[in-house]
Amino acid sequence: MNSGVAIYPGSFDPITKGHTNIIERGLELFEHLIVAVAVNSSKKTIFSVEERLEQLRDMFADNDRVIVDSFTDCLLVDYAKQRKAHAILRGLRTVSDYEYEFQMAHANRHLAPDIDTIFMMTESKYSHLSSTLIKEIVRYGGACHEMLDPQIEQHLKNKMK
Ligand code: PNS
Repeated sequence: MNSGVAIYPGSFDPITKGHTNIIERGLELFEHLIVAVAVNSSKKTIFSVEERLEQLRDMFADNDRVIVDSFTDCLLVDYAKQRKAHAILRGLRTVSDYEYEFQMAHANRHLAPDIDTIFMMTESKYSHLSSTLIKEIVRYGGACHEMLDPQIEQHLKNKMK
């Protein structure tokens, strides 16, 4: 299968190797992936939307099947409709992700019955990763090169200075 357009939404504050793994695998299923920086009202972010967009654009500059964008003042499903995407891609790491993702997928399906959420299990070597945890590791000088792209690690270190 390799069809259509899917949205891969997230806070990406910052993007981790767990996210990039989902993007790489998502490209096996979809012709184009729109990696969309979005606002999660329950999270306080360290990078602005513009900074996150710039980081993602640099990262996927050579891949014309990855479109980097953001939406900040509408629902995900409305954004998906605008972009003519027929699926939302999300990674699942642990059982604790499940409840939140379950609620979100059902709410989105209720709002837009023609858009499906597709879940991918995060590769086990990345299943313990979260942007929140990584920010804490970097803040206290821990090594995180196995979790982050080197450029993103540098951005994070600069931000924490
Ligand atoms: O990376 P995250 O923080 O888990 O991503 C969550 C995100 C940004 C995808 C979610 O909060 C979202 O879709 N926000 C946009 C507003 C919206 O549609 N909210 C209702 C979701 S049911």
